[in-house]
Amino acid sequence: MGLVVIQRFKEAVAARATLEAAARFVAVVALVATSACSGDSDSSADPAVARGETIYRNICVVCHNADPNEQGTMGPAIARATRDVLEAKVLRGEYPAGYTPARETHQMPQFEYLEPNLDDIEAFIASRRK
Ligand code: HEC
Repeated sequence: MGLVVIQRFKEAVAARATLEAAARFVAVVALVATSACSGDSDSSADPAVARGETIYRNICVVCHNADPNEQGTMGPAIARATRDVLEAKVLRGEYPAGYTPARETHQMPQFEYLEPNLDDIEAFIASRRK
């Protein structure tokens, strides 16, 4: 009896985690669709930069600075991050071989669902790099 309850609880937790991941994915797609349609971004004429900025502001700025050249509330400056660094860190929580990370910690969550948006995030960061 107790075991059945625990099993049910585990199933419920697993289902919820999947739902949350799906909800996050839908939210990002909606954000990108909105920014693609509204055309009111002040960031640049490049639509990839504008889409990347929307994602960056909604997800990354929770910890990183709105200006990627500056340190954020929790995360370091990330303006130097190139495509390979973004891909490794954002999608897999890793760094490319030979890369010296800004920090030794592993506090940042992985955002593997952002794979389709990585080109846009890269375009935004590159556009702000000083
Ligand atoms: C919950 C807070 C948080 C969020 C949200 C977050 N990051 Fe981070 N990020 C960090 C922290 C903290 C580090 C430092 C390494 C660590 O502890 O994981 C970091 C490190 C990085 C690095 C490595 C920088 C370097 O040169 O070593 C990159 C690149 C990066 N973040 C990009 C992003 C992008 C892009 C997003 C949005 C999709 C994002 N992060 C969202 C907290 C966050």
